[in-house]
Amino acid sequence: MKIRYTAPLRGELTVPGDKSISHRSVMFGALAQGRTEISRFLTGADCLSTIACFRQMGISIEQNGSDVTVQGKGLHGLSESSGILDAGNSGTTVRLMSGILAGQRFTSRITGDDSICKRPMKRIMQPLTEMGAFITSIRGNGCAPLEICPSALHGIHYQSPVASAQVKSCVLLAGLYADGKTSVTEPVVSRNHSELMLRYFGAAVSSEGTTATIAPEPVLTGQKITVPGDISSAAYFIAAALLVPGSEVLLKNVGINPTRDGMLRVCRAMGADIELLNEDSSGAEPCADLLVRSSTLHGVVIEGEIIPTLIDELPVLAVLAAFAEGTTTIRDAAELKVKESDRIAVMTDNLSRIGCDVEATDDGMIIHGGKPLHGAVIDSHRDHRVAMSFAVAALACTGETEIRDSDCVTISYPGFYDDLQMLCRQA
Ligand code: S3P
Repeated sequence: MKIRYTAPLRGELTVPGDKSISHRSVMFGALAQGRTEISRFLTGADCLSTIACFRQMGISIEQNGSDVTVQGKGLHGLSESSGILDAGNSGTTVRLMSGILAGQRFTSRITGDDSICKRPMKRIMQPLTEMGAFITSIRGNGCAPLEICPSALHGIHYQSPVASAQVKSCVLLAGLYADGKTSVTEPVVSRNHSELMLRYFGAAVSSEGTTATIAPEPVLTGQKITVPGDISSAAYFIAAALLVPGSEVLLKNVGINPTRDGMLRVCRAMGADIELLNEDSSGAEPCADLLVRSSTLHGVVIEGEIIPTLIDELPVLAVLAAFAEGTTTIRDAAELKVKESDRIAVMTDNLSRIGCDVEATDDGMIIHGGKPLHGAVIDSHRDHRVAMSFAVAALACTGETEIRDSDCVTISYPGFYDDLQMLCRQA
């Protein structure tokens, strides 16, 4: 894909549904009794992997564009898959499903693509093993493919060394099948979509500080779910509108859950003009329309408790920092190394290619921003968030930018380039 500046971004956009919430709506719908009707489901490849896995375990799921209906069979209604489950590129699918599979009365195997088979799974194998699960890494390297055999699970209190919603959710889901309460304490609170949605389906879940607790064997009941727009997808248009002079964009119905809204807080600290309109906190997941106008940005420090609330937005925040005046320091974000790619190495390399003065550190990056930057050939490493971040950067660079393997955006945002082009044509 080749991209260059054409015009300021103008107009309105409704971004696709939230990826984390879409995954969970199918998973919990499958474990509930009766029908779950989902609208604005994200039809990205990751969430389609989740649908495929549950179909393989006997759950009937009808998909009509972004409308999905799941015929749940209850906590004990899944059946053994004849083949290995394939999570594709999706860490959320492998890790959350492993928690569910640990509680089943049959053996499962789960794998994914090359990237998934390099990502750390010990972080879920350890707590699941503590609960009594039989889970092994088939190649003995602590990564997928994983084999999970039936066993009795015990409720535990797990002190997680990482702030990861995937780890927390995995343990809580296994806790549905345990012999007592299960709780997880994190160093810093991570996204809480599992807690909110499990409660909505009827589970007894409580949250206090950095600890979430679940009681076993609830009766979950099918629900209607409207997935809010994904703030992680909105992030690219927020960034593009901020960077390209003369832009003004209205992003409709975006999820602004406080465990996910760190990007908005950091952008404002950098000097961004972002207004929240039509805020709606009536459902479990708060939403708003975001009105974004181009702004002059300056560097900031991004560290500590805010990191889990913007972990997926750090690549595009790094792009914003490259164009902002002064230095931006990102710390406490070593988790970036174990995402779909090593996002510290990959972002640093690609930012250097467009002429940015950037250093990688053990747990983040130091970005000296404000120099004029130029188009270059970008290696996305098939990481959707890297590709989309540099599509944004391309609009603020001189000349042309070519993004290699740009089609990887289908993981979370199949229509991304069309939507970007549409906003650049409204001037
Ligand atoms: C996710 C949690 C985050 C995030 C990922 C989706 C989720 O990962 O990066 O894109 O849906 O729970 P970690 O939990 O590993 O931080």
